[in-house]
Amino acid sequence: MSPINYNSHYIDSNDIKAVVSTLKGPRITQGFKVKEFEKKLSKKFKCKYCSVVSSGTAALHLTAISLGFKKKDVIISSPLTFLAGANSVNYCGAQPVFVDIDPETQNLDPKKLEKKIQSLRNKNEKVKAVIATDYAGHPCDWKSLKKLSLKYNFYLINDNCHAIGAKYFKDIGYAAKYADVVIHSYHAVKNITTGEGGSVLTNNKKIYDKIEILRNHGLVNIKKKSFNKNWPFEMRYLGYNYRITDFQCALGITQLAKLEKFLIKRKKIAKIYFQKLRNIKNLKVPSVKENIDHSFHLFPIQIDFKKQRFNKSQFISYFKKRKINLQVHYFPIHMQPYYKKKFKFKKNDFLNSVKFYESAISLPIFYELKKSDINKVVNLIKKKLNN
Ligand SMILES: Cc1ncc(COP(=O)(O)O)c(C=O)c1O
Repeated sequence: MSPINYNSHYIDSNDIKAVVSTLKGPRITQGFKVKEFEKKLSKKFKCKYCSVVSSGTAALHLTAISLGFKKKDVIISSPLTFLAGANSVNYCGAQPVFVDIDPETQNLDPKKLEKKIQSLRNKNEKVKAVIATDYAGHPCDWKSLKKLSLKYNFYLINDNCHAIGAKYFKDIGYAAKYADVVIHSYHAVKNITTGEGGSVLTNNKKIYDKIEILRNHGLVNIKKKSFNKNWPFEMRYLGYNYRITDFQCALGITQLAKLEKFLIKRKKIAKIYFQKLRNIKNLKVPSVKENIDHSFHLFPIQIDFKKQRFNKSQFISYFKKRKINLQVHYFPIHMQPYYKKKFKFKKNDFLNSVKFYESAISLPIFYELKKSDINKVVNLIKKKLNN
């Protein structure tokens, strides 16, 4: 019996057919499927431009370069997210600064953000951009974030990797509506997958044009004007090979067609967890605010381990022994040895993130999760917590 993981991809015969047919075609990379996937993503998520790239991390890195992050620029994110956003700030030599989460949604707290912006202003430091993650699939308070971005004139980036398919005030296109740049990851555990992959979505033509060049070594096709008629490319910027293949995009297209079906199942699983775990002592289920349509990439519960006879590691081991691999999202970035050492962060600098990390456990949630497996998870939790 294979173990139950916290997340898992789902590939059907249509996905396989699409990938194989592209592999048998004349172009396995930089062909028509890249463009087709980009068009479909733009349409689905209601934005003008989309560039697909090799990963969500590549998407964040290219965004950082295209927005011109440089030494001494301050870029704010929450510490309770995946490392890739803060790392991209570091790649450009800019300064990653953290602001704590709202303990209810685990998203960047706009009130704390404004306080931080003002205290930085008093030191003559200006915020260049804010990268906000829609944690677990729950959109941030984008109306407040947008107001702040207009008031203090900074770029807004939505790290939307968890929230693919979520809605904010009933709008699936909210991400590009409020943020200047939106990042997707199509890693195997995400709501749709291309194996590895990601994209940058935006309504800003300048940003899009730059990303298109940067993902391909910084090369621009200048056709007839080329100084070298045999090779009509000119390198304008220091770019990267962050391209994605056509067969991955073929998979992305068939996965995107199943997104609604995937989301329905994720919501069904979440509903069962909510019903069965809501009234358990010392256990908190996720909160979902009004006007939010959650995409349930994750289902993180919080357990007060101080009130138990076992700690978090023992709890995770108890499940592992029973072939259920729980996960933790996330070990706060400011506590990572690299960040602690380089920026002199202390554990308690961001107490809400630390408290959440100490209590959070991500339960299994994915398309093929069986009802019997959900019941097994729920019953083991109840047994362990004596409920
Ligand atoms: C919130 C968040 N941001 C960025 C990334 C990076 O995406 P990728 O793994 O595709 O590089 C991930 C993926 O784990 C993520 O969860």
